[in-house]
Amino acid sequence: MIAWLDGAIPYLKALHIASLVIWCAGLFALPLMLARHDPAIAQADYSRVRLACHYGYTWVVTPAAMVAIAAGILLIFMREVFVPWMFAKLVFVALLVGFHAWLGSTIVAVAETEGEHQTPAPLLPLLLLLVLVLAILVLVLAKPELDKIPLPHWLMEPRGRQLPFDAPPRL
Ligand code: HEM
Repeated sequence: MIAWLDGAIPYLKALHIASLVIWCAGLFALPLMLARHDPAIAQADYSRVRLACHYGYTWVVTPAAMVAIAAGILLIFMREVFVPWMFAKLVFVALLVGFHAWLGSTIVAVAETEGEHQTPAPLLPLLLLLVLVLAILVLVLAKPELDKIPLPHWLMEPRGRQLPFDAPPRL
């Protein structure tokens, strides 16, 4: 790796960690904020919670997720971590992204669509989120040797075949 690129790794890692802290904090906060969408509260409070959810999701949590993911993808190539624990981590990150998308669709359904909507109770989503975040942290911090897990050999070596679809035209 080029020396100055190596020097950028600590800064990129700091950016990765700072943005994922904001991302994950938002994922924990939003289900609790959604639970405050109670028609029984005063109109002004309801509007405040609704706007906080909307702007928090679109202007803080989603951009932080994008920065965390972009920095993480760059780190994969700069640190050359093409190893099983990283692939396992990416599976859990994919589930985290799914959770993020579920939150977005729930915010739209509960707070931005006409009609009566039931806000989801926060306990179960928060437990699920805790499991996902802990799994990611264990994988990335312990970096366990997962090489012993048997994988089918077709996943471990190049297949040397054509792609199963037409190659996109070159521009
Ligand atoms: C697509 C999303 C992500 C990608 C591609 C990614 C990739 C990476 C890479 C390549 C590293 C450097 C590993 C090393 O230097 O050994 C790293 C570090 C780290 N990641 Fe991620 N990551 C992602 C999301 C997350 C999430 C969601 C969390 C936590 C919930 C997380 C937590 C961490 C931590 C704590 C480190 C520092 C580990 C260390 O330096 O020992 N990452 N990530």
